[in-house]
Amino acid sequence: MPGRFYVTTPIYYVNDAPHIGHAYTTVTADALARWHRLLGDDVHFLTGTDEHGLKVQQSADAAGITPLEQADRNSDRFREAWELLGISYDDFIRTTEPRHHAAVQDLLARVHERGDIELDTYEGPYCVSCEAYYTEAELVDGHCPIHTSKPVIVFKEENWFFRLSRYQERLLSWIEADPDVIQPESKRNEVLGFIRQGLDDVSITRTSLDWGVPVPWAPGHVFYVWYDALINYATAVGLGTDDERFRAWWPHVHHLIGKEIIRFHCVYWPAMLLAAGLEPPHRVFVHGWLLLGGAKLSKTEHGPAKLTEIAPARLVEDFGVDGYRYHFLRDVTFGSDGEFSYEGMVSRFNADLANNLGNLLSRVATVVGSKCGGTGPAPTADSPLAAVAAKAYADAADAWERKQPSEALDATWRLIQGANAHLEEHEPWKAEPGPAVDAVLGDALEVLRLVCVLASPAIPTACREIWARIGLDGTPEEQRLPGAATWGGYPGGVQVTKGAPLFPRLRSPEA
Ligand code: ME8
Ligand code: MG
Repeated sequence: MPGRFYVTTPIYYVNDAPHIGHAYTTVTADALARWHRLLGDDVHFLTGTDEHGLKVQQSADAAGITPLEQADRNSDRFREAWELLGISYDDFIRTTEPRHHAAVQDLLARVHERGDIELDTYEGPYCVSCEAYYTEAELVDGHCPIHTSKPVIVFKEENWFFRLSRYQERLLSWIEADPDVIQPESKRNEVLGFIRQGLDDVSITRTSLDWGVPVPWAPGHVFYVWYDALINYATAVGLGTDDERFRAWWPHVHHLIGKEIIRFHCVYWPAMLLAAGLEPPHRVFVHGWLLLGGAKLSKTEHGPAKLTEIAPARLVEDFGVDGYRYHFLRDVTFGSDGEFSYEGMVSRFNADLANNLGNLLSRVATVVGSKCGGTGPAPTADSPLAAVAAKAYADAADAWERKQPSEALDATWRLIQGANAHLEEHEPWKAEPGPAVDAVLGDALEVLRLVCVLASPAIPTACREIWARIGLDGTPEEQRLPGAATWGGYPGGVQVTKGAPLFPRLRSPEA
């Protein structure tokens, strides 16, 4: 039954240019949004940029521009990167927008009125890169535990504090009531362990900078960037501006995040929502880090490159948009750390796209041209591939539901392999034209139709192209599951076109 699917990425800091780490989360969210649109769900896919705080202020100062100029510039760069990668977001939020100021003030004023935001003084080590306080015990050789090469600074401020300590039990009940609320399970356990140790109150305002959302009840204070940023997820569905819309969408949200921001999303954010009398998020899915392996990108003539220095555009040049998207969705298990290498990307491209899918398409189009006069025959009702297709769909649907694109694509590619094996068994290219050849090719065309639908969340451009080449009207994206996955949808009697190779084989890079 169609439902609502609200999916979010973190909003990215505008002190940095978009890199393949940001793109990893965004491409995954995009594929999930596209899958849910195929299911007929009412989908809302949100991404955006996080534009306040000391880090942005400092990088603007260094560049000799205002923080808003800095934000405008880099927010545009994120939008350009997402356009290049075919990201189908429904909304792109910027925390400097008036709608967001309204939501932040609305939510935090509710918490203040209910008595869980109070004035207090705090002094402690602070990491500007994280925009977070640490305790002495958490520091590694006097440095931030994440940014280990950067010293922390000591900050003392009279601030408004959120009484997080009062929320320990309520947070535990939220997580314990539903085993799937935080995934994967290892991350759920990490959060439970952290909460069970006891929670400290957190300072949520600053007087030391003015690049932020003003605190409505305390002139001179702005909200600290994380308590502004987290609220974007509520802003985007109408908190503070459209109550009816907010009630329709909240809390049916699926947050995708990297593992370094787990406490913000699994502790502070749900606690703030509870404190405002709102429901905590439905799902938080925590993924690992992409790490840089291989030789091609990690050693440049200028010395070792960092993953965060690789722009998606650099790889799209060599692999195309679909080759790019496919690699990150297929080769990283969502949830674990994944090693990214250029060499691995070439092998994956050649094996799955150039060989498996590319071969199926070019063989079918060639033989339909030589044996069927270019008109695609209809599939057979009792094809052995029907069962293979049913299994591929069932497995792929289950994997997408569990947010495992890699498994979903693996299942989809088993259907392609099945069709290639079927062709090799019957060798229609060697046979005389006639009903037997038509049957084999009709079945292979039906597999291509199914694959266009099932793979469209990952490789939308190629799927649209294949769809047109096998003579179908409309687009794969317009199809609806489960109906479109039923064997026999290819009509037959339509024109099949043989075009240039969709995924020309890449040469392996010299080591
Ligand atoms: O943390 N591997 O923004 P940010 C995988 N503004 N994912 C990576 C990655 C890598 N190597 N590097 C970055 C912030 N990411 C805050 C978020 S949300 C209310 C505020 C992805 O620009 C991953 O999703 O530092 C990570 O959580 C996010 O980029 C951090 O982006
Ligand atoms: Mg970061």
